[in-house]
Amino acid sequence: MLEPGAAPRGAVACKGVTPTSEQDLARLVQRQFGRQAHNYAVSRSHAEGQDLLRLTELMPHDPHLRLLDIATGTGHTAFAMASHVKEVVGLDLTQEMLDEAERLCRLRGIQHVRFVRGDAMDLPFPTQSFDLVTCRRAPHHFSDIPRFLRQVTRVLVPGGIFGLVDQTTPESQSAADLMETFEKLRDPSHVHALKLSEWQQAFEDAGLHVRHLELDMEERDVADYLDVAGVGEERRQQIWRLLAQASPAAVAMNGFLERDGRLRFERRRIVALTAG
Ligand SMILES: C[S@@+](CC[C@H](N)C(=O)[O-])C[C@H]1O[C@@H](n2cnc3c(N)ncnc32)[C@H](O)[C@@H]1O
Repeated sequence: MLEPGAAPRGAVACKGVTPTSEQDLARLVQRQFGRQAHNYAVSRSHAEGQDLLRLTELMPHDPHLRLLDIATGTGHTAFAMASHVKEVVGLDLTQEMLDEAERLCRLRGIQHVRFVRGDAMDLPFPTQSFDLVTCRRAPHHFSDIPRFLRQVTRVLVPGGIFGLVDQTTPESQSAADLMETFEKLRDPSHVHALKLSEWQQAFEDAGLHVRHLELDMEERDVADYLDVAGVGEERRQQIWRLLAQASPAAVAMNGFLERDGRLRFERRRIVALTAG
């Protein structure tokens, strides 16, 4: 249960589930996604989301280019990009997600996508080994975004393109705090979703030049969103209480509303293309 009045911030949103070290976080990620791998493989939002269409549309299409998809999960972004480039490598920390990705890859008869287990903060590839890098719906699980971005710039060839999609929070701190707590209750491996302004700063610090940046808004059904992450009854109750007790302004800024008897919210995402 959330402590009344203790408005949580970022990575330390919920006592008892906040990982204390990188190893704890890696274990949490693997437990969370290991259990739910099949849900992600069949999730329509992950397989066909408008953010994926947008990212695929914005990224360069060239049959000579090699692409690395970081935190590939069950491979939806890797598959979407596969027909536009020469070769795709999908990397993820969670073996069960990669097993689902391999299964989907075989099912679709795709030959030039391969999967590797590894950590986004310590990429197991030589310097300048990819022309393109993508990372979709994952950096909010990472322990160290600056380190992740340094790894992206290291593995990219000079002038290579990095395409990012990730959930982002409103600039208003109370609205951001509400979304962070909601996310952390849904998925204990959630660390911190950056605001748009924080992403811009992080790109600048990493020497990545922003070529394109937009906000993608997707209205999502809250119960379905909790189902994908396998949220149990106790946490669902905590989430309903959180929303009931939150300030109406913070609730509204995150787009929570009831329609046809179902609670919905606005998933706000950054879609960005940067060049090294
Ligand atoms: C929501 S899923 C990604 C979805 C996928 N990118 C897509 O487009 O469908 C988040 C993934 O991030 C992975 N992940 C989290 N932390 C990671 C890390 N430090 N290194 C690599 N993968 C990580 C998880 O294992 C999980 O598969």
